[in-house]
Amino acid sequence: MSEEKKDTAALEDLSLPAPKWDNPSVPVHPLNGERYTSKEFFQKEFDTVWAKSWLLLGRESEIPKPNSYQVENVGPESILMVRQDDYSVRAFFNVCQHRGSRLTFSRDGETNSFTCPYHGWEYATDGQLIKAQDPEDFPRNPCEYVTLVELKCELFAGFVWVNMDTDCESLRDFLGPVWEDWERYRPDDWQRFTAMTVNVPCNWKVLQDNFCESYHLPTVHPQLRESHEESYQKTSFDVCNEGHSRMIMLGATPSETQYGPEPPLTEGLSERLKLWDLDPADFEDRALEARKALQEQMRRVGPERGHTHYGNLRDEQLTDAHMYNIFPNCSLTFGADGVLLQRMTPHPTDPEQCVFDHWYYAFTPPNGEDVLRAQTNVRVDAKGAEQEFFDYGDRPMGIIPDQDVAITTGQQLGLRSRGFQRATAAGQEDRISWLHSIIDEYMNGQRP
Ligand code: FES
Ligand SMILES: [Fe+2]
Repeated sequence: MSEEKKDTAALEDLSLPAPKWDNPSVPVHPLNGERYTSKEFFQKEFDTVWAKSWLLLGRESEIPKPNSYQVENVGPESILMVRQDDYSVRAFFNVCQHRGSRLTFSRDGETNSFTCPYHGWEYATDGQLIKAQDPEDFPRNPCEYVTLVELKCELFAGFVWVNMDTDCESLRDFLGPVWEDWERYRPDDWQRFTAMTVNVPCNWKVLQDNFCESYHLPTVHPQLRESHEESYQKTSFDVCNEGHSRMIMLGATPSETQYGPEPPLTEGLSERLKLWDLDPADFEDRALEARKALQEQMRRVGPERGHTHYGNLRDEQLTDAHMYNIFPNCSLTFGADGVLLQRMTPHPTDPEQCVFDHWYYAFTPPNGEDVLRAQTNVRVDAKGAEQEFFDYGDRPMGIIPDQDVAITTGQQLGLRSRGFQRATAAGQEDRISWLHSIIDEYMNGQRP
């Protein structure tokens, strides 16, 4: 964070809620089933949306040194992100320029060069072809002019962002108000603690839609009432012209709407109070006051425990769930010390399947304190957890994602039916309409 930014944060009243976004009016979208099932729609959507948007693809800390690389697949495309000698990151299509073979099938690693498995063309990590078999047999030595095809690549919040459209706007312009919100957490060096990549039998938008509304919380995740105030009337929703949306839901509190005016102090909340040296017994009869007390205590004790980024966080960022739906395909839920990244990418050919990433990154305090105990509702594995790949249903992902995916795979079945014509959406589902309106604008050529 720049000096100028630090000063701004210091002058700010952090007890105030986040400023609202521009909130353009959201037309209600019919959300007909064809959008989730048609091959034609799927292809056009890939060409106009996916090939033209900034995509959150890699993680800087996972390619820490020159020559380290990561590969991510997006539908039919495979994209190579490589750390350069000057520590910048460059991205290339993972495709050999001789006759189109995929260049590498490994997901990550460290290498001085990439050698095509077919005829052995070898590329340096900056994309330049450095070796070709029988170069004299070409009209001109290909090493003199062949390079991998490069994509736009920028770094922000510790993530590597890539855009296949080389004429695109800057990442900062694309992210709009999201940029300033995320910068406050200083998430750049947060470490990965969970990384599941799961094949799911539903269109990618069915999952992103689900993450764009909290209407399903009381029915699909009944346990969340123990730690969140789920009422839409007490939740703040925003959309921005750039195409993203945000939900801020009260956390560190049992739901007054669900339990009534005197909700119990739940076990998870008691644990969280203890972690910050507050006595749960003091809140037995006043559980609704725990959130405020926790904010004050985190503010007081946090910096000396190494959580220096709390100095930039608003009170609500200390306790409440801040969920960002980044156009087109990512939903990130920030807590004070960690972010859950849920990302959906299309299957290479089938509109009714997608790849779902459920990853968690967290701050690790310098004194080794186990801050992860404070994280609720996320399965947390080891620091630097290995990425796991599996098909939905083969093994559990964790209670909440299993609940979500069980619902979305069932919804996909209904979206296929001739018995479904259009959605009847509630006001609190506006963020879904917003996502689909922006998709339509890309597909109609009105964006980017
Ligand atoms: S296709 Fe790569 S070397 Fe021939
Ligand atoms: Fe959910």
